[in-house]
Amino acid sequence: MAGIVLEHEVDWKGFRTAARALVSAEIPPADIVWSVCAEDDLFGAVTSLPPPTLELRLPRALVTLAETVIQAHAPARFALLYRLIWRTAQGERYLLEQITDPDVDRARRLAQSVRRDTHKMRAFLRFREVTTDGATSHVAWFEPQHYIVEANADFFVRCFAGMTWSILTPYRSAHWDGTALSFTAGASPKDVPDDDHLAEYWQVYFSAIFNPARLKIGAMLSEMPRKYWKNLPEAAAIPELIASAAARTQAMIDTPTLSPPRPTKRSHRPLPLPDQSSLAEARAEATQCRRCPLWASATQIVFGEGPTDAAIMLIGEQAGDQEDLAGRPFIGPAGQLLDRALQEAGLDRRQLYVTNAVKHFKFTPRGKRRLHQSPDASEIAACRWWLDIERANVAPAVTVLLGGSAGRAVLGRPVAVLRERGRPMPLPTEQRPQGVALLTVHPSFLLRLPDESAKIREYAAFVADLRTAATLVNNRSAAT
Ligand code: URA
Repeated sequence: MAGIVLEHEVDWKGFRTAARALVSAEIPPADIVWSVCAEDDLFGAVTSLPPPTLELRLPRALVTLAETVIQAHAPARFALLYRLIWRTAQGERYLLEQITDPDVDRARRLAQSVRRDTHKMRAFLRFREVTTDGATSHVAWFEPQHYIVEANADFFVRCFAGMTWSILTPYRSAHWDGTALSFTAGASPKDVPDDDHLAEYWQVYFSAIFNPARLKIGAMLSEMPRKYWKNLPEAAAIPELIASAAARTQAMIDTPTLSPPRPTKRSHRPLPLPDQSSLAEARAEATQCRRCPLWASATQIVFGEGPTDAAIMLIGEQAGDQEDLAGRPFIGPAGQLLDRALQEAGLDRRQLYVTNAVKHFKFTPRGKRRLHQSPDASEIAACRWWLDIERANVAPAVTVLLGGSAGRAVLGRPVAVLRERGRPMPLPTEQRPQGVALLTVHPSFLLRLPDESAKIREYAAFVADLRTAATLVNNRSAAT
């Protein structure tokens, strides 16, 4: 009998080296006992093997499967993987295609379970913010079913590269200090502080994206099983959201909507252009705007708001349903998400000038609802008149373009938001004032993302973009 002791639960390198040597020494699976060393037993009963004398060539699909299966919480996985490798080396080159083979079937099921666990970790891991001696870091507690921390740490580095964080799990903990990733032993939930103001963000965010009319409790529980709830701050909002769903849906149905009045010939006659550029006068003038047909179905114009000496101007796409009724930009669900992200980026909305590329709400009536429609290039061009006046008066150092319509309005061309986002861009040279533009996604994009992990990732990227805007302003103030 050969005894192989691996250094830790996902010691892929050790397993691969041992498997090579074992195949080369022609030791069959039945003659091997695999184990993982205890922490105090690093050099336990290891059989020393001669170096391999033949090169072991394995199909790529088998290596990929093995890299996943080794993360499974199943003590027999090493023996199973070695059996698959042994049989392949003995000539069963197409073994993985035999999906009814018991070994193949078992490995495929384990891999599927690991992938499911990976998805849950990416979707349901929540960081808590911790401040120690004035320094902020983030800590998350997660209880994976399998040994998936090592394989997923890079994912969290990519998503949260700008933060200092630790992910604690019962068997292993991962730490990112902003430059390097390290791993330590497992931890306990007690190691995670619970004074968490980020919890509030999750509750507001979840409540904002919760659509009572689409409530399907079964689907919700299968996507977000109860066992994860204890670590999900937003789960606290779920019972109330479910309980109030029927009443909120009825209220949505009962809310009267405005049907667009029929445009008259008169309504298309262009107004004389305003000959002043003071913001207050332009705001008053804009209430009569007929520069494009959108005024006819909207409740009112939604002009920008904020201090006229703001260093940062945020430009969205167009007023939404709630903005149209209230006459103020970004006060609906997208606005609430924006407010949270601004706060996390260290920006105070009261110090920013917030406006839209298009100042009237464009929508299609659908029953009693008004469905948002994106403005087209001609509507964006028509509304540039007002946007230019706002920009000339406010003269921001940094103009944050939230999404494609804002990008088109200011840069004068179609933009590829995901490709061009997050870096300062010069404004077209004919434009005054000069300053920089920074393109990022529109908050509604975040609200529409279908899966949790994408939401977390994209929200973090959005906050990072807003932080870049803050840094640009700070650097500018420091240089002047
Ligand atoms: N979306 C926008 O682009 N602007 C708003 O004011 C609201 C939603």
